[in-house]
Amino acid sequence: MRLSVVMGCLFPVLFAGMSTRGQEVSPRALWASGPLEVTAVFDESVAQGELERFLGETISYELPAATGSARLPRKLRVAGARLEDGGRTLVLATDPHPRVTEYRLGVSGGRSLSYRLNGVQAEWSEPDDPPESPRRVLWLPELSFAGAAQAVPGSAPHRALDRDLARPGRLVLTTQLRLPPGEGTLEIRANGSIEDALLGDAAADPLDPEAKAPRRSVDLGAEPRADLLFCSITLKTGMNAPGLRVSWKPAGQAESRPVDRTACLLPWAPAAAMPGVAAANSPNLGGGDAARGRRIFTSDQAQCAKCHVRDGQGGKVGPDLTVLRVKDPAWIYASIATPSAEIVPEFTTYTVALKDGQVHAGVVRAIDARVIRVTDSNAKSVDVAREQILRIQPSSTSIMPVGLAAALGAEAVRDLVAFLMSEPEPARSR
Ligand code: HEC
Repeated sequence: MRLSVVMGCLFPVLFAGMSTRGQEVSPRALWASGPLEVTAVFDESVAQGELERFLGETISYELPAATGSARLPRKLRVAGARLEDGGRTLVLATDPHPRVTEYRLGVSGGRSLSYRLNGVQAEWSEPDDPPESPRRVLWLPELSFAGAAQAVPGSAPHRALDRDLARPGRLVLTTQLRLPPGEGTLEIRANGSIEDALLGDAAADPLDPEAKAPRRSVDLGAEPRADLLFCSITLKTGMNAPGLRVSWKPAGQAESRPVDRTACLLPWAPAAAMPGVAAANSPNLGGGDAARGRRIFTSDQAQCAKCHVRDGQGGKVGPDLTVLRVKDPAWIYASIATPSAEIVPEFTTYTVALKDGQVHAGVVRAIDARVIRVTDSNAKSVDVAREQILRIQPSSTSIMPVGLAAALGAEAVRDLVAFLMSEPEPARSR
């Protein structure tokens, strides 16, 4: 079958050393099933004992180098692993995925498996369910599909979604679309009824309650100016065989082209370029006193040491500043004066909304299979059960407080810059 060949090309890497009854197996599919989770499905059961090897493993990714800094390999930690569907589905609990890039999960023998944040989030609910608690949330590789199990062959969760789709309810598909620039029309064609559809600012007309026939076609005009347009399509389920075709027709052209999987980015994926704050221009930064700078660093007013380690001492809310990524006074100044201009990926701030209505904001770390820790701008942490999370959304603002440069004054900032530029103290560094 053609589709399975496509999947085979996407996930060609062997799950080296992972065995089912002594044989090495490769997953049929591997995807980010949420901001904090990765799922792999196998043809055969994976032995329970194989789970251990994933704990403490890391998922690596790379980013283009910032001005003057090296291309640093970056990591997410795998904090938990469990098997479902009789061992054929492996779910890894991870740190959040902070950027749109390629992620690699290292497996034994120096080999790795890779995935990106492409795809569509599918949420199925029964007719009377409240919108915020869907019965099933699942990844689909793209918007167009003729049955979920066909879209991801060999996957038990997708077979289960197909069973749901045969029952009365609604399927909400959400994604961020990267469409070609210029005007055009998104053509949505379904086997069942299209209840609702959104593309950026464009929305389908409300359904006519008098209409007898299901609405099978919706066209949404748009002029993609933004890099990514949010798209959501709601289908009524339990009518026909589920099926959806979505294509893009550029204005003035007769032919439309299917929106393919590379154009779909998961709805929770952080936008590639965050709507940035411009980095502050630096005043004259010469002549600071490093010894005074060290005292300011740990002072109650500046509070730098509450969040940053320097020479082995301090808090871990922000990056260790013993060895700077960029050793440049103007960059240090910009980091203090405009923290949100360039956010270190692992220190992205998230808004974490819980099912009970509470909202926490801060840097997120995976603690184990069940819990994440959210640390706020006062360096206070709360542990949150993963199953309590309703939504987790990256923010374009740093949790490092704004206004520090102004509050401390020009002289203190010069001293801080001199301190951070100074050589680490060998006696105190680890
Ligand atoms: C509430 C915690 C907090 C406080 C207080 C704080 N920072 Fe930060 N800082 C962070 C976080 C988190 C980041 C990483 C995210 C980002 O890039 O904004 C960061 C980033 C930085 C960076 C850039 C590091 C890099 O590799 O990009 C520098 C330099 C820095 N802080 C210096 C300071 C100084 C100096 C102070 C005190 C005047 C201070 N910070 C106070 C949390 C804090």
